[in-house]
Amino acid sequence: MSNTENIFNNAKSEIEKLWNNNSVLSNFVKFPKNLFLKNQNKNKIPATDKLFNWNSNLDTKLIELHNSISCLSPYVNWEQGYKENEVGKDFLNKYGFFELIGPSGHFKTSEMALYVNYLCKNAYYPWHNHDAEELYFIVSGKAKFESKDQNTEILSSTNTRLHKSFESHAITTDENPVLSFVIWKNKFEDVSKLTKN
Ligand SMILES: [Fe+2]
Repeated sequence: MSNTENIFNNAKSEIEKLWNNNSVLSNFVKFPKNLFLKNQNKNKIPATDKLFNWNSNLDTKLIELHNSISCLSPYVNWEQGYKENEVGKDFLNKYGFFELIGPSGHFKTSEMALYVNYLCKNAYYPWHNHDAEELYFIVSGKAKFESKDQNTEILSSTNTRLHKSFESHAITTDENPVLSFVIWKNKFEDVSKLTKN
């Protein structure tokens, strides 16, 4: 097995371990069995190096999980989902995600999608929504979460937040970046779209 495959398989087993110990995640969607790594492009964006170099202010409980994800950063297909004329250049310097598990992910499955989401400090991810029901799980850092039908909350490592289908939400960071898993189930083929609120 190549070194790169080891890095991917290590991240997968850290995530599977997390699933087995976290009922919010395992009740939202079952962790797929028989996930195989497939050949996938890699794509570099500003977030790539930021995540790769992030090794301070980590939650000691999730340090192995965090490191297994940051090690993946140079080898994954980073995406941004929005164009500069929608969200501005500053946002695109601070935001990115990659589909680690899912229909178009590095580990292919049609049972769910798990995106790794990175948002730099001092960033604002504007209001958006999507058809898929979504669970956020915070790996590291901190952010303010606003949504249409829920109270505003500051979330940090191990916290979760559910967004219903088409429930608009926005995310703001201040002095900390935030690394999260964004898990989609049902209708995860549709992409996220910006909304007024
Ligand atoms: Fe979302």
